[in-house]
Amino acid sequence: MPQTRVAVVGSANMDLVAMAPDLPRPGETMLGTDFVMVPGGKGANQAVAAARAGAASTFLGAIGSDAFGVTLKARIGAAGVDTAHLRVVYGTSGVALVMVNAAGENAILVTPGANDALTGLTEEELDSVRRADVLVAQLEIPVETVTQAAVAARAAGTRVVLNAAPARQLPDELLAAVDLLVVNEREAQALTGHGRERPEALLDLTPRAVLTLGGEGAWYGDRDGTAVHVPAVRVEVVDSTAAGDAFTAALAVGWGEGRDVVDAVRWAAAAGAACVRRLGASVALPQRAEIDQLYAPA
Ligand code: RIB
Repeated sequence: MPQTRVAVVGSANMDLVAMAPDLPRPGETMLGTDFVMVPGGKGANQAVAAARAGAASTFLGAIGSDAFGVTLKARIGAAGVDTAHLRVVYGTSGVALVMVNAAGENAILVTPGANDALTGLTEEELDSVRRADVLVAQLEIPVETVTQAAVAARAAGTRVVLNAAPARQLPDELLAAVDLLVVNEREAQALTGHGRERPEALLDLTPRAVLTLGGEGAWYGDRDGTAVHVPAVRVEVVDSTAAGDAFTAALAVGWGEGRDVVDAVRWAAAAGAACVRRLGASVALPQRAEIDQLYAPA
């Protein structure tokens, strides 16, 4: 089987990750237990996750001219991602301050840095989107850039998977180009005013949608009348950071490889579960064999 080609347009951040029994409240100082510094950013995570899941993965993003940028580029490339279209812009790279509690829950503050400079994709960059089987995008870069990539992909017959994270309102032009929307409950609420009690509201926006429900699995629905709940794969949770990235990337790869979309959601659920077993975004993203091992067919 030829490798599915996935183009990811999105953010790259250096994640500074601190673990503590609880997440501190405003005004509180707390002693943590562990610290790691790992490459992250929803875009880079999804590009790395797609490569590990078996795709030929290309990343379109921007890093700063600082030391974080050097490390980010090296680590993303070492994961097997094509970084020919990773721009270096003068200034700081994106940074994410990630706090993780004993239950594996997190709170994340991102300063976008170079990610905000990813504007106006060139024809060469857009060609790499057009050549892909699937475009995957998120919302940690300017939404105009996501729209530009999605419109180009759609016109070329490249499927468009949008992980609308973090939550923000989406232009109609972008929504019209999306084949499959992936959101969590917070993002669904922001987009439709509804969460799990009415996930089908997402189908007013895009023809297919996935609502991820953390430890309770995921809902998939489409305008052809399919609406299913896919159960979560039970694992011990260490850190939920990037589980959504592992999920979205595996969904894109599985769907691109020709799985039925509901089966691709099941495979993606296995990828998300594999990811939460380890600390740190990019280092936790699973290889294909690990996804296959946890995958539970219907
Ligand atoms: O989805 C997880 C990611 O969100 C982290 O790696 C962090 O960088 C933020 O972008």
